[in-house]
Amino acid sequence: MTAGPTTMRALARVNVAAIERNVARMRLELADGVALCAVVKADGYGHGAQQAARAALGGGATWLAVAAADEAVALRGAGIDVPVLVMGALTPAELTVALEARADVVAWDEDFVDAVATRGGGSVHVKLDSGMGRLGTRDAAEATRVAEASAGAANVRLAGAMTHFATADERGDAFFGEQLERFAAWAEPLRRAHPHIVLHAANSAATLRDATAHFDMVRLGVAIYGLDPFGDDAVARDLEPALELRSYVAAIKAVARGESAGYGRRFIAERATHTATLPIGYGDGVRRGLTNNADVLVGGVRRPLVGTVSMDNVTVDVGTPPAAVTGDEAVLIGAQGDERITAEEVAQRLRTINYEVTCGLLARVPRVYHRDGDPA
Ligand SMILES: Cc1ncc(COP(=O)(O)O)c(C=O)c1O
Repeated sequence: MTAGPTTMRALARVNVAAIERNVARMRLELADGVALCAVVKADGYGHGAQQAARAALGGGATWLAVAAADEAVALRGAGIDVPVLVMGALTPAELTVALEARADVVAWDEDFVDAVATRGGGSVHVKLDSGMGRLGTRDAAEATRVAEASAGAANVRLAGAMTHFATADERGDAFFGEQLERFAAWAEPLRRAHPHIVLHAANSAATLRDATAHFDMVRLGVAIYGLDPFGDDAVARDLEPALELRSYVAAIKAVARGESAGYGRRFIAERATHTATLPIGYGDGVRRGLTNNADVLVGGVRRPLVGTVSMDNVTVDVGTPPAAVTGDEAVLIGAQGDERITAEEVAQRLRTINYEVTCGLLARVPRVYHRDGDPA
């Protein structure tokens, strides 16, 4: 039997209405006047940057953030005209690209401010490293010097002051409070001297955890995609997972006791059963670490993924008699019947985080957009 016409070997279905609602739901956490910046880097955490950006703006975001200059260019190329912040480090060539895309950029040394000025100017957010230990200066006095240099340089606008938390998702941890205090002690006096600047620090976890971390704007990534910032159940936090990952049953095989499936014979049947072969694999972003280590929904029931995940196929034990026919839909992330498999569950199996699961879906997987089931 051949697969039905609506079936695709690998498919990520993205509900833009869910992203819109997640943004609206996160806005309920914010006091009036606090802006929401939607983080759409890494192709919108694998969901599609432009589509995620539009949905987020529809839900009430007024800023967008990306990591790389080219990501800002892509948003502008899609006709998106709202403020875009490039949060990552920029080489001189990348700085040129970012400024040409009218993106705001992040500075933590005076040479960088000079480089912005010599390229005709732009808007700068100064980053204090309050404890993440990656980008930004740890030295508050230096951060102030960079801010004053930005405010004073021709055609450069001091637009914001920012930091990033290392442990916002680790509830009960005291370091978060220390970072918050360090940032507030530096940024609030700076804002008194430059009242128009936007202070921002909180990611999704910090936004849900502590309203005093909101300042003038929050930068939300994971939550807007309906992924749980704490790795728990997003639905219990009123967030809707926006992405489903599907494949289909391309072949059913009777497997006698002692027969195997896949490279390395990592599954050897202990009893007579049937396997369903799904034409999706690590070439699509279904990680090999899920070998004998995942469930897949077929016919609304959880079935164990058995054997090695290969580049283009996985096998699933569908029992005897086989509980599937060729052409049946298979869900690797998402809901089917009353069952659901979350990105958080897949992440736990892989000992990683939900972010990596959706960011790890590769370009070979077509993204199809819908609004609650209707074509988007
Ligand atoms: C600087 C910065 N701000 C905000 C975010 C958004 O974080 P989250 O996806 O946890 O909301 C990120 C993402 O990693 C980031 O790097």
